[in-house]
Amino acid sequence: MPDRRIVVTRIPPGDVMHRLESVADVWLWEENRAIPRDLLLERCADATGLYCMLSERIDESFLASAPHLTVVSQMAVGVDNIDLDACTARGIPVGHTPDVLTETTADLAFGLLIAGARRFREASDLVRSDAWTQWEPDMLLGHDVHGSTLGIVGLGRIGTAVARRAAGFAMDVVYTQRTRDRRAEQELGCSHLPLDGVLRSADHIVVVCALTPETAGLIDDGAFARMKPSATLINVARGPIVETDALVRALTTGAIAAAALDVTDPEPLRADHPLLQLPNCLVLPHIGSASVTARADMARLAAENLLAAMDGMRMPHCANPAVYGG
Ligand code: GLV
Ligand code: GLV
Repeated sequence: MPDRRIVVTRIPPGDVMHRLESVADVWLWEENRAIPRDLLLERCADATGLYCMLSERIDESFLASAPHLTVVSQMAVGVDNIDLDACTARGIPVGHTPDVLTETTADLAFGLLIAGARRFREASDLVRSDAWTQWEPDMLLGHDVHGSTLGIVGLGRIGTAVARRAAGFAMDVVYTQRTRDRRAEQELGCSHLPLDGVLRSADHIVVVCALTPETAGLIDDGAFARMKPSATLINVARGPIVETDALVRALTTGAIAAAALDVTDPEPLRADHPLLQLPNCLVLPHIGSASVTARADMARLAAENLLAAMDGMRMPHCANPAVYGG
């Protein structure tokens, strides 16, 4: 048995498989759905490397059943599905794919902002259902994006890219984040506020922070109560940052005007879910990074992270740098 045994949990775009196969014994889950947990555990029992997606749960019980694993490399930037501390404790570096999807995801966030505020979903439904009979002076009035105040929850890489786009729409930008980023404030002309201040002052709010124990359920009933009734809420981060039941209430009672979501809790969302019965809610199936270029770059970067670790080198993009001693 070669000493490099890699499990790949979905077919990656591009020529990544050839690259992996040229240096290791590779087992690939080829089906068009997430690998069943049992099979993942079975296949990883003697694997030394894992190339995974955000659909896999990499926790203590997984790691305990994969004792030979020396590296986990995920084809995504978010790693909330991975217990980073447990990996660090076992000396396992975890790779992820920042930067290459930043602009692509920011494009989608801005698209959702405009689509939500200007009611694209209702408008498209009207035409498709053959209910559009004439131009009307008060039909489907939304709320302006240009010249409004944008609230960004999490001014990281993607949040910063969203803020840069906002400048082209003459928007004021306020943001909230645990640590202030004075350089970004200077460069982008945005202002830091506590979450409460962002919720109260923003005309529209984009959630783009990482999902952590601190941000889970951050946007709850109390948060919606502080938002403007004309506001659109956009989430391109992770579903559980927004409390789904609270969101349904907010959209139903008019606490906010609209929501435009690329991520939901749960995910996937079934068609009979209450959120999907609401005309003022637009839901996309987690496609933030889904451009041809970004996905190819993510697949390549995930392979580079994996192979660097297997060669005993520091990964180009490690999500738990503590594994290298800081
Ligand atoms: C997608 O959601 C990612 O984290 O890359
Ligand atoms: C709308 O189509 C307009 O011309 O005002």
